[in-house]
Amino acid sequence: MSDEGVNLAVDLAPQNPHHLRLSNPIMIASGTFGYDGYGRGLTPEMRLSQLGAVIPKTVTRLSREGNPEPRWYPKSFREAREAGACIYLNSIGLANPGIEAALTDLAPQWANWGATVVLSLSAESVVQFGEMAAMTQGVGGFQAIELNLSCPNVDDGALFGHDAKLAAAATAAVRANTTLPLLVKLAPNVPDITPIAKAVVAAGADALTISNTLPAMTIDVEQRKPVLGGITGGLSGPGLRAVALALVYRAVQAVDVPVIGVGGIFTANDALEFILAGATAVQIGSANLADLWAPFNILEELRAYLEEHSIPDINQLVGAAQIKAPVS
Ligand SMILES: Cc1cc2nc3c(=O)[nH]c(=O)nc-3n(C[C@H](O)[C@H](O)[C@H](O)COP(=O)(O)O)c2cc1C
Repeated sequence: MSDEGVNLAVDLAPQNPHHLRLSNPIMIASGTFGYDGYGRGLTPEMRLSQLGAVIPKTVTRLSREGNPEPRWYPKSFREAREAGACIYLNSIGLANPGIEAALTDLAPQWANWGATVVLSLSAESVVQFGEMAAMTQGVGGFQAIELNLSCPNVDDGALFGHDAKLAAAATAAVRANTTLPLLVKLAPNVPDITPIAKAVVAAGADALTISNTLPAMTIDVEQRKPVLGGITGGLSGPGLRAVALALVYRAVQAVDVPVIGVGGIFTANDALEFILAGATAVQIGSANLADLWAPFNILEELRAYLEEHSIPDINQLVGAAQIKAPVS
């Protein structure tokens, strides 16, 4: 099959008049785009325009210093991958320059990448989610917004992503202030993802991103204290993959918008598992921190899979492993 014959293009916002058409389903996950989350370490040979989309690190209303060191376990994700580790932890604490600096200083540079860029937002109240969305109006450099709901609501300390009503309220507040395609990224540690998925879609999400990291920690038994400066952190990488995959599989059954799979995707095989579970696109996270070429390599492997299996369109594989419930 000729290269031109393989269609990798996907639309992550088919119900939004703007659409979010990506040339392929490989995206860079927020917080893992280069070593600082904003592209540090990338070289000009890494042509971002070849990827489906790039999501720079989440920005908050005000700048944040982040958590005390150490922020990583193991210290190097590259060594973790080489050692075949399953446990990848981080405790960055959403260090970021704040939305004003992001819109003024960073977004104009994003416009030069020739890539589809998604702005990731997090807020500490429903009202603040709306205010931040309003601040993005008329600003260029990104084509969509992703809400990071793995953050606490200042009013009661509850995580937005843990509560269907709160998650829906944040989504609605943003939806009221932007017409851009809106992706809502959910937390994995919930008893049932489906009511939350349904609630945010009803509130205006164009697509769901599943999932963020799982709360986790490790303890140094010689020092007898937690390893991470933030005490607990987020589990990402291979140990998260099977959890995120099951969440994607379930969420796809519950909603009629695209779902984006993220969690431990290091190879095209991993990406295909998510696509077969029903993900329309995937995000590459920890794998970038092990090797900044990872998303480019995964894209080429994915293309090769389609060619080898004579599949002309990636969309044919979306949800192909969903087992239909027996008709009673
Ligand atoms: C170092 C690091 C920083 C992250 N920062 C963010 C962030 O700012 N916003 C966000 O939505 N997710 C953030 N994440 C979560 C990732 O985007 C992704 O959802 C998660 O790591 C699971 O994917 P992975 O197993 O491929 O890493 C971060 C993950 C890591 C490892």
